[in-house]
Amino acid sequence: MRVIDLIIKKRNNKALTTEEIKWLIDNYTNGNVTDYQMSAFLMAVCFNGLTDRETVDMTLAMRDSGEILDLSSINGIKVDKHSSGGVGDKVSLVLIGIIAALDVPFAKMSGRGLGHTGGTIDKLESIPGFNTDLTIDEFIENVNSIGVAIAGQTSELAPADKKLYALRDVTGTVDEVSLIASSIMSKKLASGCDKIVLDVTVGSGAFMKNPREAMILSKKMVDIGKSCGKETVAVLTNMDEPLGNSVGNALEVVEAIRTLKGYGPADLLEVVYAIGAQMLILAKKANTVDEAVSLMKATIDNGSAYNKFIEFVERQGGDTSYIRNYDPLITPSIIREVKAESSGYVQKIDGTLIGHASLILGGGREELTDEIDPAVGIVVNKKVADKVKTGQVLAFIYANDEKNVDKAYKEIVSAYTISEREISRPKMILNVIK
Ligand code: URA
Repeated sequence: MRVIDLIIKKRNNKALTTEEIKWLIDNYTNGNVTDYQMSAFLMAVCFNGLTDRETVDMTLAMRDSGEILDLSSINGIKVDKHSSGGVGDKVSLVLIGIIAALDVPFAKMSGRGLGHTGGTIDKLESIPGFNTDLTIDEFIENVNSIGVAIAGQTSELAPADKKLYALRDVTGTVDEVSLIASSIMSKKLASGCDKIVLDVTVGSGAFMKNPREAMILSKKMVDIGKSCGKETVAVLTNMDEPLGNSVGNALEVVEAIRTLKGYGPADLLEVVYAIGAQMLILAKKANTVDEAVSLMKATIDNGSAYNKFIEFVERQGGDTSYIRNYDPLITPSIIREVKAESSGYVQKIDGTLIGHASLILGGGREELTDEIDPAVGIVVNKKVADKVKTGQVLAFIYANDEKNVDKAYKEIVSAYTISEREISRPKMILNVIK
């Protein structure tokens, strides 16, 4: 087989065979297919898509590009959770404490930032000393002893996705339904969990901009999970503005800590409880959403979720003094206020523009080798439906380099739509697909 023939085939909107997809993924993983050839193929997929059969083939080829974890030595039902990505999405960070405090094993493989969205691994690495580079044995040992472990994608687990993920991030080939479905499901199927909960984000801060696309993505992923014998539930959640108030790696860790201490923003908590409830139901810890939500609320009220988060950070090498006193994590050299240029009610905050502002400040990668600055980001002070007067602070920019601030400022101003019309707060949970 020749890679150029496969690129041309997809460019001409023809379906590749199972063998062709496996060959392409295997040869990309072992370096025989170059990044520039794979970029061309990915772009052809963005224009022409993959059939359902091709998506399953791609998922399985990526799953089989490395090891498939055996988590059978961990007691209990292992439920994994994954988000299709968003701006300010720190749901996993909060769930680490809550789910493990309820004695449900949480063994999670997470990713880095992608496009305008952040990644759990980058966020956790803003805690000094925190190590996400666990061996498989360490990963299993941590879940067995403290109930939770989070690892970055090792080169052993779905290495094809690891390479493709980084390549898509810098080639404008992220937001295609089949690529997202196969990326997420290949990792989840390789990670050895028993059941899967997917947070499929919808709106301006997500890759899926409308509920129709999000439904297609959800159904694809739920079907792939079921066809591989893993019960899978997708929750469609609103990402039409940044989730919570903070965007940026350390800022989001701090917001997660504050949430675990009982000071979480309402929209974030709503999503945390909706996703957590499905996890607890699949793990047979609760029978109904209401029962699951009361269990979760209790872990915040009695401090067990916060204590579990500290135990988790300590176990993965992080300096817990930064959890107890987090101010040093978020002390950039520059804090600039972004002021409202008109009065009224906030109608919209374009999540992608806020995500771009964070990228400009150094909170994400524009090239494969870019280093992230953990301390930078944006604190959203006025959310959708809030009343605002000219001159009031819409958002704060946290920066370390003056040259980025003006550009980020412009993105943030243009992200906001303000008008006279009074509106109600957006609904956060749009659908649950089983
Ligand atoms: N998360 C993933 O793991 N992959 C994607 O493609 C998008 C979000």
